[in-house]
Amino acid sequence: MDSPPSDSSAGAIEGVVAVVIVVVVVIKIMLFCYCMDKAKTAISVVNEANQLKAQSTSNRGAAHLAFPVIGDSQLEAGTMERFLIDIAREKPIRFAPSHLAAFTLNFSEQLGSGGFGVVYKGRFPSGVHIAVKVLNRSSGKRMEEQFMAEIGTIGRTYHINLVKLFGFCFDPKMQALVYEYMENGSLDKLLFSDPSKTIEWEKLHEIAIGTAKGIAYLHEECQQRIIHYDIKPGNVLLDSNLNPKVADFGLAKLYNQNSTHVLVSGCRGTPGYAAPELWAPYPVTYKCDVYSFGMLLFEIVGRRRNHDANLIDCSREWLPRWTYEMLKKNELPEMIPSCGISEENREKAKRMVLVALWCVQYLPAQRPLMSTVVKMLEGAIEIALPPNPFGYLEDNNLNCAFNFGSEGNYDSSSSSIKPLIQSSDCEIEIAC
Ligand SMILES: Nc1ncnc2c1ncn2[C@@H]1O[C@H](COP(=O)(O)OP(=O)(O)OP(=O)(O)O)[C@@H](O)[C@H]1O
Ligand SMILES: [Mg+2]
Repeated sequence: MDSPPSDSSAGAIEGVVAVVIVVVVVIKIMLFCYCMDKAKTAISVVNEANQLKAQSTSNRGAAHLAFPVIGDSQLEAGTMERFLIDIAREKPIRFAPSHLAAFTLNFSEQLGSGGFGVVYKGRFPSGVHIAVKVLNRSSGKRMEEQFMAEIGTIGRTYHINLVKLFGFCFDPKMQALVYEYMENGSLDKLLFSDPSKTIEWEKLHEIAIGTAKGIAYLHEECQQRIIHYDIKPGNVLLDSNLNPKVADFGLAKLYNQNSTHVLVSGCRGTPGYAAPELWAPYPVTYKCDVYSFGMLLFEIVGRRRNHDANLIDCSREWLPRWTYEMLKKNELPEMIPSCGISEENREKAKRMVLVALWCVQYLPAQRPLMSTVVKMLEGAIEIALPPNPFGYLEDNNLNCAFNFGSEGNYDSSSSSIKPLIQSSDCEIEIAC
């Protein structure tokens, strides 16, 4: 039989119970303090939002209510950083023209210019570097609504391979977009303006994959599918570690199809990268970006423009078609080393060439999805030999209808061709 607990053991148990109670009470107090702290933070964020709402009442219209201009006090160093983290996640910040003038020291340092406007280097009061794209002017109530709608979409689109939009300005005097600053500028400068071609080929392969991931996100993953319409090396920007980020997505929709960034022929995109369907009266889908990405891939492998009249010998040819000819003659093993690609990278380079040839297929339905492109580039799936993407150029009828442009693109001045592309084609994936 067990003997009853002695007085001393009962005292020990009481002591343990007392300690446990004390520990539980202390934990509860700590939890209470933590919750109070959280609540205070939440209240201050709500107050901040209420302040913003209060400021917006002086403005008219739904767009103003949705995107009130940020107050000067919030731009002061310190608060800005928090503001960026807390609020930019939800929606971009609206700036006044005077803010942008201050950030850019009166628009003193130009980074470049393109079809939509001029880009200036700037800095937030907190020190964060920015790029301010001042857009060519357009106006009208409809324009403002469309602008806000698109800003809402662009502002909610986050991916490591997309340039981040911090904010914007929409004012009768100025329309502008405020982006994160990319230290290493655009890929075209790296590929075409660096005479020493110092960048490692391995890095270029990573840039190609990162760019493909950014576009795949726009097409297949983000809330609202976004077609870029203007994929090209100039719209792939590189951060301080040469990580690629796709720029200017959503911009095409900020404008009416018929307004600013339109080529002489009345089509969108950039010559040399725009898919044939952008030049002809055929349905246009996200597959036009796949085509442009293919054109970009050829340029990455060749480290040259697809069309370069200054080059000598056979390399003067349009690089995509020349590449296909090399594949057909089984001469890729000779062609790839001539691009300065070392032995260990040749397999990857061959993969890039095959992917590029799939991407530039004439029929959108034959071009792969961008998520498939990523897998192909990473070597996760086998790549079948692509059919000739340029067969239609050899077709006499089509040759008459499409004039082969100086940069390897096609000027559709005739409407005599029957549409070859059905919109339903565009959802079919190729089997690789
Ligand atoms: N976020 C950024 N960070 C650093 N530099 C940038 C940034 N955005 C643009 N730039 C620079 O400004 C240049 C011009 O850009 P912009 O987008 O206006 O023209 P583009 O890309 O050549 O043509 P498009 O109008 O078709 O996009 C780029 O080539 C790049 O060097
Ligand atoms: Mg651009």
